[in-house]
Parts: sequence; C-alpha cells; structure tokens
Amino acid sequence: MTADNLDDYIVRHIDPEGDYLHRLWRDTQLRLSYGQMASGHVQGRLLKMLTRMVKPRLTVELGTFSGYSALCIAEGLEEGAVLHTFEIYDEQEDFTRPWIEGSNFRDKIRFHIGDALRLIPEMGLKDIDLAFIDADKRHYVDFYEMLLPRMRTGGFILADNTLWYGHVTEEHPRESDLQTLGIKRFNDLVAADERVEKVIVPVRDGLTVIRKR
Ligand SMILES: C[S@@+](CC[C@H](N)C(=O)[O-])C[C@H]1O[C@@H](n2cnc3c(N)ncnc32)[C@H](O)[C@@H]1O
Repeated sequence: MTADNLDDYIVRHIDPEGDYLHRLWRDTQLRLSYGQMASGHVQGRLLKMLTRMVKPRLTVELGTFSGYSALCIAEGLEEGAVLHTFEIYDEQEDFTRPWIEGSNFRDKIRFHIGDALRLIPEMGLKDIDLAFIDADKRHYVDFYEMLLPRMRTGGFILADNTLWYGHVTEEHPRESDLQTLGIKRFNDLVAADERVEKVIVPVRDGLTVIRKR
C-alpha cells in the first residue's frame, strides 16, 4: 500500500469536495504559481469539520492565497459567524475575490489585502474563537504571539505546515533555510508553552491544533 493509494482511499471515504471547490482547486493549479499551497480536498474537509466542532463566532485566517481554505472554514460557520481572511500579496486579489464573491459563503467572509500581523491589531480584533495560521513560515512565532492575547480563553489556533516536509527533524538546518528555522522555532515555543494545550496532527504537511487555556 503506497501513500498515493492511501490518499485515494481516504478521498473515497470522506465527504466529497463539491463542484465549486473542485473547480477552484483546478483553477488554482492552472493559473497560479505554487498551486499546491492550497489546502485541497482532505484538509479542506478537516477544516470545515473542526470549524463545526468549535462553533466560532469570530474566526481569522492568516494567508488566503486562492481562497480554498477560507471557503472550507466559512462552510463550517454557523449563521451570523464571520471569517476575516488576510492576504499580503495584493496581486492575488484579482484571482481570489471573484471566487469568494461567487460562492455561497460570501456573506460570511471578509477578505482583506495586507499584512495580517499589522491589520489584525489595527482592526482591534479580539476574543477570537478560531484562528488558522497559514502564512509566511518565517513569521509563525510573530503570528502566534500577536494572536494568543487576542484569542478568547478556550479558543483554538490551527497552524498549518508544522512538519514542513519533514525538515523539522533536521537538527541543524542550513542557516539560509529560514522557513525550516521559522517552523522549528514555532514548534519548540508551542511545545514549551504552558499557556496552551497542543497536538500535532500529521495530516498533509502537519497541522498543529492549539487550545488557549
Ligand atoms: C500557503 S498559502 C495559503 C493557502 C490557503 N490558506 C489554503 O490553505 O488554501 C500562504 C499565503 O500567505 C500569504 N502571506 C504570507 N505572509 C502573510 C502575511 N504576513 N499576512 C497575510 N498573508 C500572508 C502568502 O502571500 C500566500 O498567499
């Protein structure tokens, strides 16, 4: 049994992705560089399910990219709940905004262009119930320290790519490999952080689930 076989098996035994997300995934791969950054079918269904479990009123996402994960999180939101999603790369807007605006979840999503590290404090967002960190790996520690005081007690932070293609197990990554160093620094900080409970779920590239005590 290969990893590809297992992936096929999983995909055949979970909720379908749905036509709209499938078309977004294909458009992402066709028109954007690094299309594989989008969450995709399995992680997308997991994000929706975790959102259903947490029942957040206020959710933030750091790193919108093509909007795939934003749509999955929004799909899990209850009536009246909102997702603020932030994308630093302004040229991404022309691709992503029509996909968000054309979806069934447009009323639940606020799409902001700019640096999440600056905008979330500027907007005064606090008492956040659920946060998804999926932006620049070099700044995961900064995102986390900015978010944690703004989370409500019992709120959840999900951090993506925390296994970073397995590079996190390298004892001495190259000094120039700032992404691996950034993720390792984040993982070490969270592991030792008494303010939170945490578990790493080895789905896709690693998803850390963190609960603020
Ligand atoms: C891995 S992609 C996001 C994928 C998307 N969350 C998904 O799962 O479909 C990371 C995105 O974060 C954006 N980004 C990087 N640093 C950021 C920051 N400080 N604030 C907002 N967006 C940022 C990048 O431009 C890129 O589009």
